[in-house]
Amino acid sequence: MSTDRPTGELTAREGAGTVADVPDRFENPGLPAHPERLADRDPKAAKRVERQLVLLLLISIVASIGGVVGWASIPVGTTLMDVRLSTLVLGLGLGLGLLGIGLAAVHWSKTLMSNKEYVEARKPTYSSPEVRAEAVEMIETGIEESGIARRPVLKGALVGAAALAPLPFVVPLVGELTPTWDSRRFAHTAWGRVPEGSGGRLPDGSMGRRLATDPDGRLIRAADVTNGSAFQVIPHGLEEEEHYLEEKAKAVVFMTRIDPSELKVSPERRDWHYDGIIAFSKVCTHVGCPVALYEQQTHHLLCPCHQSTFDLADEAKVVFGPAKRALPQLPITVDTEGYLVARSDFHETVGPSFWERERLDENR
Ligand code: FES
Repeated sequence: MSTDRPTGELTAREGAGTVADVPDRFENPGLPAHPERLADRDPKAAKRVERQLVLLLLISIVASIGGVVGWASIPVGTTLMDVRLSTLVLGLGLGLGLLGIGLAAVHWSKTLMSNKEYVEARKPTYSSPEVRAEAVEMIETGIEESGIARRPVLKGALVGAAALAPLPFVVPLVGELTPTWDSRRFAHTAWGRVPEGSGGRLPDGSMGRRLATDPDGRLIRAADVTNGSAFQVIPHGLEEEEHYLEEKAKAVVFMTRIDPSELKVSPERRDWHYDGIIAFSKVCTHVGCPVALYEQQTHHLLCPCHQSTFDLADEAKVVFGPAKRALPQLPITVDTEGYLVARSDFHETVGPSFWERERLDENR
């Protein structure tokens, strides 16, 4: 509702006395003049602006669809570049989709929408029927002046852009939450296989996969691992295998050496360490973050996500935090050439709990 009532009157009502008792404290500066814009007087200019708006919204639509199509068509899991490219395409789709809508909204409000300003004086909380009728009229006027009713193409483009903009966010989310994966893939890691050239011969004649430093892939001799040193380790030759990133995420291991006299070792794990060199899965058993902060003095390994703490001297049992299970231990020894090798895969599924985990462990 347009009004000439001075805004100073509103200030006066906040005082203790009546409106008549309290003088206006500020002069009402009034409203600035409303310059007429080209689109206000020239229908051709208005049409041109409308086309520009449709173009911006079409860019938004194309970007949203392109982001989803790009994300779906780039296979992830082969190389790190794939992951980066997929994320980049998805982010570009989402960003350009929202940018198109944002630019269109600003352009529309500056060029096509009414630029008249309205001042609504304060009223009693309860609105009279006349005021309500006025409000309805204002809304109808706003709709009319925005031009949305007269411009069906623009309306359609706006609805289309707004409806599709969330797609780059929603579709991948639904895709990730849909259980299309086979949970048995989590039951085993690359430590359980020994492709040619990646293993060493154990004294009993069997083969074990060699341990290699990550990321430089160096083989490790027992003598390289001094008391308190910390290694991030992956299976030797893993980068040659399919789904390298997935396999690495499951198999990555933290290795250190503790004086054997300080180790608590249960009878069935007596030969799982080599002269105090111990290796545990780096995948936190809480929700899967990489445990990484090693405290040499206490032998505690801390997960930075929610502070679960594991005692490596006591088979990586949980001493603090929300994790409920110890970190799985990788049984290791040295091969006939003196390199550290895994005796076998982990004896349980690595990582956090999930529905089928117990069944998977029973069927190992
Ligand atoms: S993921 Fe490690 S404590 Fe939560």
